[in-house]
Amino acid sequence: MLQLDKLDVCYGSFKALSDVSMVVETGELVVLLGANGAGKTTLFNAISGLLKPSAGHIQFEDKQLNGMKPNAIVSSGVVQCAEGRKLFPQMSVMQNLMMGAFVHRRDRQGNKKRLNEVLELFPILEDKAQQPAGSLSGGQQQMVAIGRAMMSRPRLLMLDEPSLGLAPLVVKQMFETIKQINSLGTTVLLAEQNAFAALKIAHRAYVMENGNLVMEGDRETMLGNEEVRKAYIGA
Ligand SMILES: Nc1ncnc2c1ncn2[C@@H]1O[C@H](COP(=O)(O)OP(=O)(O)OP(=O)(O)O)[C@@H](O)[C@H]1O
Ligand SMILES: [Mg+2]
Repeated sequence: MLQLDKLDVCYGSFKALSDVSMVVETGELVVLLGANGAGKTTLFNAISGLLKPSAGHIQFEDKQLNGMKPNAIVSSGVVQCAEGRKLFPQMSVMQNLMMGAFVHRRDRQGNKKRLNEVLELFPILEDKAQQPAGSLSGGQQQMVAIGRAMMSRPRLLMLDEPSLGLAPLVVKQMFETIKQINSLGTTVLLAEQNAFAALKIAHRAYVMENGNLVMEGDRETMLGNEEVRKAYIGA
């Protein structure tokens, strides 16, 4: 579904990603592990068209994403839920959710149907619909951010550290919901530092260090790997 081929991304003279090749197959939940500054967000922003790779190719299904505008990339089915949520805090939860439906604004029936699906995933948001998004708890705000991304009807959903700053119990529920989103048919690429929880729901994972992919494997292999355990699981 998604294929990255020898991607380089630079910030000025600093090479943040080097020779990154990866694939995500339809239906998979793939985790991208990496410490602070490894390059996870940079990779997502390159796929989303917010950063221009200096070398390499990004292929999504039959489309070459390099050079496409961010909104065209969203329309083609690749949607990012950005690190730090990036909500509009003064606007209501509903307005934030509907922002994600902008790419499908002509399909009101479809948006209504999708809104119901999102509210089924996050029932609490129905009660909070008219409240300013900024008044919600951290976990609820993360639900709004994921819900907004889902309103864009992704076929590939990229989640950038959704568990950041959330309490352990909230993190657990968040990962359950991400697993459910995947089970319902959305392919997921998930960047996380919370390696154990992420690997538990993943089919496969990649490990990124200093802009390079250094390891790849399925869930069992990664959970059983000594280096992964030492570096990311603390066991
Ligand atoms: N706008 C920028 N200008 C210059 N350097 C940047 C910029 N954004 C990121 N970098 C650098 O690129 C590298 C990768 O950063 P990136 O944000 O992609 O890492 P990350 O894996 O998402 O980290 P985190 O887990 O902390 O979010 C880091 O060394 C960072 O300092
Ligand atoms: Mg990041």
